[in-house]
Amino acid sequence: VGIVGAGQLARMTLEAASALGVEATVLAARRSDAAALVCPRVVHGSPDDADALAELARRCDVLTFDHEQVDPGLLVPLLAGVAVRPEPAALGLSVDKAHCRRTLRDAGIPQPVFSVLDGADPLEQADAFAAGVGWPVVLKAATGGYDGKGVWIVDGRAEAAEVIEHAGALGVTLLVEAYIDIDAELAVQVARTPTGDQVAWPVVRTVQHDGVCREVLVPAGLPAEVTTEAEEIAGRVAHVVGASGVLAVELFWGGGRVTVNEIATRPHNSGHWTIEGASCSQFENHLRGVLGLPLGETTLRAPCVASVNVFGGADGTDPADRLADALSVPGAHVHLYGKAARPGRKLGHVTVLGTDPGAVRALAWEAAGLLGTAAPYGAIAEAT
Ligand SMILES: Nc1ncnc2c1ncn2[C@@H]1O[C@H](COP(=O)(O)OP(=O)(O)O)[C@@H](O)[C@H]1O
Ligand SMILES: [Mg+2]
Repeated sequence: VGIVGAGQLARMTLEAASALGVEATVLAARRSDAAALVCPRVVHGSPDDADALAELARRCDVLTFDHEQVDPGLLVPLLAGVAVRPEPAALGLSVDKAHCRRTLRDAGIPQPVFSVLDGADPLEQADAFAAGVGWPVVLKAATGGYDGKGVWIVDGRAEAAEVIEHAGALGVTLLVEAYIDIDAELAVQVARTPTGDQVAWPVVRTVQHDGVCREVLVPAGLPAEVTTEAEEIAGRVAHVVGASGVLAVELFWGGGRVTVNEIATRPHNSGHWTIEGASCSQFENHLRGVLGLPLGETTLRAPCVASVNVFGGADGTDPADRLADALSVPGAHVHLYGKAARPGRKLGHVTVLGTDPGAVRALAWEAAGLLGTAAPYGAIAEAT
């Protein structure tokens, strides 16, 4: 398997590849990339360098991805020599939020009301849209965004004008969406084979702060009608997208409806809990899916799982220096990605399994806190 990109997702995929004896090569933009540090087979180059992609393709049978900052058009010439999975058409949906929204709308998948600002006067278009749904509205970069970078909640025309000008200068297309009064954010991971076998993990609750996922909780703690609907919608989305490997579907529960936020055709932060929390992890099933192997079971290994992300603290302390403290927390499964510590940078995660939702959450936050992660929104007090 060749993996385009060498971040933490590739690094955790390598762990699964190692267990299965699958030889993996990563395409790394930097020597310090999380996966490049632990993989002996590295092609050095940028994901938008056609020669680097061709070199990676030459070394493997199946090409897959650690991120969606790729141009699907660059992959087409490679298809003669290598299987690209997720398939370029499916990957294209995860690369371009506007294309994804239109495709899911045509398939009848529930989503927030939206409009793609590709007309001659995007500000006029956004203003007219807001006149219909009411301010605030959400502006999103169709391509290139992640972790809330590329998402702006705007309260009025003047604020929208700033974002639209900024995006125009960068040459990025925007879409505008109705602002959803969110009660909870949810995610479902679905794994699929090239022949259309599909399995899904239970729906999880994700907690975002400033557009960044801070924690993932299983079970989602919502009424059964809501979780069943989320799982049913995600299954339909996976069928429409048709991506081999893992598909992550982010959803909103709000305004009395479940709607799809966005998708990613790869393992996802909202599925890291599956490493310890499920029979087969998202990383192993991603490999199984892209290789056309039988998919593994997605059942829970414990009634409750909490996974908390580790971020660099304001004082610049490296969580690796505090490993001993975190490992003293009973049941804490600590993952550090080997990335250089910078304030606010996602550096790892901690997963705890158990029988009580509050207890697993409190332990996971305790270990993340010992690693230097500041808890926003009173998360620790809430959990205990
Ligand atoms: N239509 C919306 N209404 C309300 N909040 C939204 C909406 N779209 C996005 N958000 C908030 O912004 C976060 C990031 O948006 P998302 O589209 O998932 O971008 P990213 O690619 O950065 O994850 C979401 O997790 C959610 O908290
Ligand atoms: Mg998102």
